[in-house]
Amino acid sequence: MNLPRHPVRVIAVTGGKGGIGKTNISVNLSMALSNLGRRVVLLDADLGLANVDVLLGIETDKNLADVLSGSCTLMDIMADGPMDIKIVPASSGVRSMTSLSVHEHSAVIKAFSEIDDQLDVLVIDTAAGISDAVTSFVHAAQEVLVVVCDEPTSIADAYALIKVLNRDHGMFKFNILANMVRSPKEAQQLFGKLRAGTDRFLDVALKYVGAIPYDEMLRNSVKKRQPVLTAYPRSASSMAFKSLAKEIDNWPLPSAPKGHMEFFIERLIQHETENV
Ligand SMILES: Nc1ncnc2c1ncn2[C@@H]1O[C@H](COP(=O)(O)OP(=O)(O)OP(=O)(O)O)[C@@H](O)[C@H]1O
Ligand SMILES: [Mg+2]
Repeated sequence: MNLPRHPVRVIAVTGGKGGIGKTNISVNLSMALSNLGRRVVLLDADLGLANVDVLLGIETDKNLADVLSGSCTLMDIMADGPMDIKIVPASSGVRSMTSLSVHEHSAVIKAFSEIDDQLDVLVIDTAAGISDAVTSFVHAAQEVLVVVCDEPTSIADAYALIKVLNRDHGMFKFNILANMVRSPKEAQQLFGKLRAGTDRFLDVALKYVGAIPYDEMLRNSVKKRQPVLTAYPRSASSMAFKSLAKEIDNWPLPSAPKGHMEFFIERLIQHETENV
């Protein structure tokens, strides 16, 4: 008998520019979603530059490449994070997926589909830039969270990223999250600036999902190698992460087949193969 598959939300956190808060947002959003009762796995797709592991002080010696080589399972490489989140360290970029044999392809699909019923949300922290490693993860996810700050370079990079995802990957819908804003008004204006460009030159739909305020407490938490949500749970940024999680948790659940991990990984591999 074929049981109905469990829908998994796959959210990629991206933004083009480096240092705009993608990793902090991925970690704290994952934790806040977990706090709402969701089982969350955070995929650190930027291990090459040490992100989630450094931020959380987690030591990982194995990563997704070891799963691909068959030396261990996905469960073996999952690390325990704060607030019950699980962390999957990817290798630096997923280019190695292009060289997988058919047998290995099915091993990866199997590895991800085996954890399918053990998670509700997969959050992917992507690297900076618009490399194939970034776009392949974003393309495979159902929801994209584009992080943008009120700086001309961040707005330009977010625009360029949206343009590439739309033009080369057929993506149409983008969720925009403003970070490091000094006021709600600044966040709205920032969104307005980005949309002025996309409305004029691209055929895409931008959705404003909220803002994380500029918060010294977040900076302090990074220095302590702790997520702000546990280091300073009452800080302005922690409150914003909690309301962002509530908002995202209310988004309609993906319907089959997009909600399946199997589908996610198939798209990931398919994209990689197309770009060889
Ligand atoms: N809301 C915020 N308020 C204050 N500072 C922030 C905020 N968000 C991020 N920062 C600062 O920006 C720094 C970079 O954040 P983070 O590492 O999350 O960015 P990133 O986009 O993942 O960077 P990279 O592209 O290098 O992976 C943090 O160490 C922190 O000091
Ligand atoms: Mg990062």
